[in-house]
Amino acid sequence: MNILVITGSPRKNGNTEIMAGVFAASAIEAGHQVTVRKLSENKVNPCIACKYCFTHDGVCVQNDDMNEILKDLNQADMLVLASPIYWFDVSAQTKCFIDRMYAFAIKGFHIKSIAMLLNSGADGVYDAAEAQLRSIASNLNWELKGIIKIPNLQEKGSIEDAKELEQVRDLAKSL
Ligand SMILES: Cc1cc2nc3c(=O)[nH]c(=O)nc-3n(C[C@H](O)[C@H](O)[C@H](O)COP(=O)(O)O)c2cc1C
Repeated sequence: MNILVITGSPRKNGNTEIMAGVFAASAIEAGHQVTVRKLSENKVNPCIACKYCFTHDGVCVQNDDMNEILKDLNQADMLVLASPIYWFDVSAQTKCFIDRMYAFAIKGFHIKSIAMLLNSGADGVYDAAEAQLRSIASNLNWELKGIIKIPNLQEKGSIEDAKELEQVRDLAKSL
């Protein structure tokens, strides 16, 4: 399977990117083709609602990194969104990516399934992110493969000691 992983933290080499890296390594080991796109390195602006994409085969009018990522999205069978929790929801960077997927709302998606990798400072902060993902998956008829949540993380790299990383590996191996 061709898997596109989007990481939505602005903090380079932080918990989200480590979590996504663990997923990617296990998925590759399981025989999948994996592309990781980090929003700490790729500029993805908010959607400007011009709907240029609706009449231009899913190409966005904005000249940032999203058109390249849309090419990856158009080849992928599965999308994995990795995000830190910011104010009880996904980060703004992750939300910008989600909004910009509107480019394929008319053209249609190649994606057939989705999963989410979340991490946060506290526990019990995942309701909004989870509800959003479930609604998107249901709306687009994507199979929801899993939502992994790793709480109690503040410092960069503190996720390395989290026992829940095993769930991330298990998810990748189960695909
Ligand atoms: C702007 C901001 C808002 C945050 N909001 C929350 C929150 O609402 N709940 C929570 O548990 N953690 C919150 N956190 C903590 C991060 O989710 C947590 O430290 C995460 O592991 C950071 O991931 P990263 O290292 O990939 O950036 C927030 C952090 C930042 C910078």
